[in-house]
Amino acid sequence: MANKLITCTINGKKREYYIDIRSSLTDMLRGEAGLDSVKHGCDVGECGACTVLIDGLPFNSCIYLAIWAEGKDILTLEGLSNVKGTISDIQQAFIDEGAVQCGFCTPGFIMSSIPIITRKEPSTREEIRKQVAGNLCRCTGYEKIVDAIEKTQKKRIAERT
Ligand code: FES
Ligand code: FES
Repeated sequence: MANKLITCTINGKKREYYIDIRSSLTDMLRGEAGLDSVKHGCDVGECGACTVLIDGLPFNSCIYLAIWAEGKDILTLEGLSNVKGTISDIQQAFIDEGAVQCGFCTPGFIMSSIPIITRKEPSTREEIRKQVAGNLCRCTGYEKIVDAIEKTQKKRIAERT
């Protein structure tokens, strides 16, 4: 077993870890960084429960080697709260719209939705569905999840005008 030093930014802070070169980014984020929002779901890139942003784009961290994170900027759900621990608007929208039941899939859905809620132009519901098509939920209706994302996008666009 070989280990390698990885330096990257996680939720705005510079981090260094000695990682088994076979480890996934999910393992590094959960095991080394203690970020439990990143879920072990299918572990084969099918369910989206492990989704994080890498340099601003959503990736399934279960099929992304930790060593590939060298020099990257990684954002997890924990990084969306402000310094006082207040949750973000998209997290609040999931609560308000009833888009959470067991919550296992929720961090992944939220991280996949970031590119859409930060767009300057409104998206159609179909575009929102496509954006989160790689995320599976087995207990909440998908409509409520789309409602939460759409509501947050509209709110952010209105705040900019
Ligand atoms: S746990 Fe990564 S896609 Fe399912
Ligand atoms: S809320 Fe339970 S899997 Fe989505």
